[in-house]
Amino acid sequence: MSSVRRLLLVNGPNLNLLGTREPDVYGHETLADVEQLVAATAHDRGYDVRSIQSNHEGVLIDAIHAARADCAGIVINPAGLTHTSVVLRDALAAVALPVAEVHISNVYEREAFRHHSYVADIASVHVIGEGVAGYASATQQLLDILA
Ligand code: DQA
Repeated sequence: MSSVRRLLLVNGPNLNLLGTREPDVYGHETLADVEQLVAATAHDRGYDVRSIQSNHEGVLIDAIHAARADCAGIVINPAGLTHTSVVLRDALAAVALPVAEVHISNVYEREAFRHHSYVADIASVHVIGEGVAGYASATQQLLDILA
């Protein structure tokens, strides 16, 4: 078990609008709901969580780099950057922490451009299309790896 008992939760662009953004696709729960769910799930197992959401790729990359100092793993929904961002992928590979990739919607049943993830082969856990509840499942699976 790692001596560091903290996770980094990363939410990418547009996820600040959860709750109002395309609710037929992403539901009615908010980013605050997501952050509370992950924090509660982690706390039950003795971990705390640092949460970041940004619409700016570089801000997310800086947060991932900082996690190297004081986090044991990363739960990430890279949002649209999943399908476009080599640099986000490189950041995750560089810090070499266990990663859980989450998508609220089932990206494989949506447009073809959402079928490819630059993060998928870096991540140890994948939870896709389970709604916001998928964040709790991803957190549990990541903590199982860290145990
Ligand atoms: C998403 C799926 C992505 O394709 C999309 O760009 C998002 C959210 C999801 O959680 O389902 O912003 O990552």
